[in-house]
Amino acid sequence: MVSRIIPVETFDLVIFGGTGDLARRKILPALFKRFCSGQVPDGSKLIGAARSDLTTQAYRALVAEALLEFVGDIASDAETVRAFCEHVHYVSVDARGETGWSALAAELSPGAVRAFYFSVGPGVYSDLARGLERHGLVGPETRIVVEKPFGHDLETAQALNRELAQHFDESQIYRIDHYLGKETVQNLMAVRFGNMLFEPLWNAQYIDHIQITVAETVGVAGRGDYYEKSGAMRDMVQNHLMQLLCLIAMEPPAQFEPDAVRDEKLKVIRALDAVQPHHIVRGQYTAADGAAAYREDVDNPRSKTESFVALKCQVNNWRWAGTPFYLRTGKRLSARDSEITVVFKDTPHSIFGPEAGRHRNELNIQLQPNEGITLNVTIKEPGPGGMRLVDVPLDMSFAEALGPKVQGSSDAYERLIMDVIRGNQTLFMRDDEVEAAWAWTDPIIHGWEARGDVPKPYDAFADGPDDAVVMMRRDGREWRGLDK
Ligand code: BG6
Repeated sequence: MVSRIIPVETFDLVIFGGTGDLARRKILPALFKRFCSGQVPDGSKLIGAARSDLTTQAYRALVAEALLEFVGDIASDAETVRAFCEHVHYVSVDARGETGWSALAAELSPGAVRAFYFSVGPGVYSDLARGLERHGLVGPETRIVVEKPFGHDLETAQALNRELAQHFDESQIYRIDHYLGKETVQNLMAVRFGNMLFEPLWNAQYIDHIQITVAETVGVAGRGDYYEKSGAMRDMVQNHLMQLLCLIAMEPPAQFEPDAVRDEKLKVIRALDAVQPHHIVRGQYTAADGAAAYREDVDNPRSKTESFVALKCQVNNWRWAGTPFYLRTGKRLSARDSEITVVFKDTPHSIFGPEAGRHRNELNIQLQPNEGITLNVTIKEPGPGGMRLVDVPLDMSFAEALGPKVQGSSDAYERLIMDVIRGNQTLFMRDDEVEAAWAWTDPIIHGWEARGDVPKPYDAFADGPDDAVVMMRRDGREWRGLDK
């Protein structure tokens, strides 16, 4: 089976920060893959813009190099890379000054969809927004793409929203959370709203609790400066885990349409309870197995920044009152494993008596790696010996069930960039959504700061601090083991 390609209009995509890490690692490879799938129309331009004084020829060489480094398996055909590079151009622009803007204007094609990707540090967003307007580059077909972090807290996010709103309409602003572009994250909506089976049970009456885990094996080496100011709460929980929580907890939107979806997600964030200090555990990895400790990675022997967070929260609405959500994320854990587990309640009465033991259904949605869904069901253990019960998985790996269609599916950046060109904001965060997420996150972080909280150390390549396990046990529950 082959993915369906929906054509897009001719476009100009300007990548500010075109020589930077994100452009090389994610944006250019994503565009190249879309090009290989025939989704970059003739006449479209990919314009790298940065301060360096490069010629288009030199930039094309840099692009070809990046493609070899990051998508070498598909970029080995020199002819395809050359054909792609014909779309690529370069303009040297000084975001804070006047140089380069008219050259950029001259590169743009009148009438084409126009997208400006802010792949630069957040400190430059305002300069770019002002520069674009000052030089007359903003029209009705203009969109801007803004990367995370979107602000550092509520105040800075509000200030940034206000600044952008002076130059662009909200319908022109695409705030990226790359988790929303992941195939399996969208699958959460398909599973919930495309099946009759789950939705009637999807509430506090039938669900005991929900666990959301995003575990990584990588540390923070190389990104220490950014991470030290951010920590897991700002880097992962405020955005990626919050988005997963929203998709799991939201009411069915009336249509799969940008504002209908985002309205429902916003209601979830606004219904979140303030997290109590004893319902949250912070951790920081120590050295193990030849890998450095967090404090060495960030070069700060006294760092109090967390590389792990586990917390319990409540969505205070009719559907979820009484069903806790447990969120957990960390670096240098024992496995790369992102998953959501919905643990259903016990049956109201066991006709098999206490000797049958405790059994309950669990729906596990594996986001990465090895995307798939497993539903644990209770059956009779085969053979003689009376009615003994056992839980077995109804196991569906998407790769096995869908084969090449899964391998051929586009990655988050491919999908999100094409959605920008199409003008579809469903998978992007709205201003009020980002602010609501910060409004929930800020008091947690301020509490840590006020109490001088120090994260609990945990061994690298293990499962996080023991306190996270204890937090669950206090509630008579267990974290699901990380899939190794
Ligand atoms: C980024 C965070 O947004 O997401 C990183 O800044 C993190 O710290 C990354 O490693 C995880 O993304 P993925 O797609 O690898 O799960």
